[in-house]
Amino acid sequence: MYLRCIECGRRYPMNEIRYRCECGGLLEVVIDTDNVENVFDSHNITLWKYSSFIPVEKKVSLFEGGTPLYRLRHIPEILNMNEIYVKNEGANPTGSFKDRGMTVGVSKAIELGKRNLICASTGNTAASLAAYAAASGLRCYVLIPDGKIALGKLAQGMVYGAQVVPVRGNFDEAFKIVQQASEELGIYMLNSINPFRLEGQKTIAFEIFDSLQIVPDNIILPVGNAGNISAIWKGFRELYEAGIIERLPRMIGIQAQNAAPLARAWKEREEYRPVKDPETVATAIRIGSPVNWPKAWRAVEESGGLFEIVSDDEILKAQRMLASKEGIFVEPASSASLAGLLKLRENGTVDRDEVTVLITTGHGLKDPNIIIGSIELPPPIEPSLEAFSRIMEGEG
Ligand code: F0G
Repeated sequence: MYLRCIECGRRYPMNEIRYRCECGGLLEVVIDTDNVENVFDSHNITLWKYSSFIPVEKKVSLFEGGTPLYRLRHIPEILNMNEIYVKNEGANPTGSFKDRGMTVGVSKAIELGKRNLICASTGNTAASLAAYAAASGLRCYVLIPDGKIALGKLAQGMVYGAQVVPVRGNFDEAFKIVQQASEELGIYMLNSINPFRLEGQKTIAFEIFDSLQIVPDNIILPVGNAGNISAIWKGFRELYEAGIIERLPRMIGIQAQNAAPLARAWKEREEYRPVKDPETVATAIRIGSPVNWPKAWRAVEESGGLFEIVSDDEILKAQRMLASKEGIFVEPASSASLAGLLKLRENGTVDRDEVTVLITTGHGLKDPNIIIGSIELPPPIEPSLEAFSRIMEGEG
């Protein structure tokens, strides 16, 4: 391989730092095509790889799943731990794990002959349903808490062509309307109370095992309506029952301080009670009455796991840490996983040698305002090298 001028054909070695040929022509890299590998086998990896575990036939897919599992490079040292992984669900087609549930849930809707779909959402479910409805040519209504969903998610819902219905109230109130509408108006509901949604989401467990080839000690994830933690636990249990794995991970659910009905009950050993006015910067998990709480409670109890609470401040710090130390930009709800691990390391709940997987549930660009609102852009410079040199000198 070498660099070649597109004008005069002159060659340069690959590690010479050069952007143009001596004659001024542009350079291109010449690849040795006699020695490449033919890997073009038309294989796409999606969660439908595990279709024998999925009770629905694929009717609509946007190539969801197959998300990266990163081994963190710098944060383990800060936490004095050996192995921390991030399963980055922001890499799904609409930027969150909801796509796993929707490819299965909307396929079920098509199988049932449903033409009208509905969900209540803090934003990601809405964006995802809107995309899968568009791809299937179905109509969908998404009810969202007015003024409390991240801009990126709102934009997605609109551009995919959903009927976006803002509700003067929070998620729990919007969800009530959706449950009534599905009962009384016959619209097919795609919130995570729909068990087929969880059949898609359980594939997160399959992919983690598929990548690592071992079962991690801890799975840590944010909890809102409590579907995902239930789904991932179901996935691991099925692998166990099928004799594919021989042990199970601890399921650890993280909730935001003022939206923590499950974590509060767990920590204070009280009975579960919904929270009336949930509030958190992590709007995705701003939920006071998680519909799947009995499933989530069982997942945590059976797995020997726990629920933990983190503050908004801890969530935002963890978001910065994951981006600036690892190059992984996630939305605030997602960084609750890392915020939770920081806390559990500090109080000794998680040991140094425990293999831990953090689920990051949504992409950072879903909620750009959080970042833009908290940083100050430096003033512009004059368009000269001199002005730029002063910046470099200033940084020493
Ligand atoms: N993380 C993100 C980014 C989410 O959007 C959600 C839920 C969760 C975590 C929590 O998952 O509800 O299964 O416990 N978002 C839903 C929505 C409620 O409407 O998009 P959960």
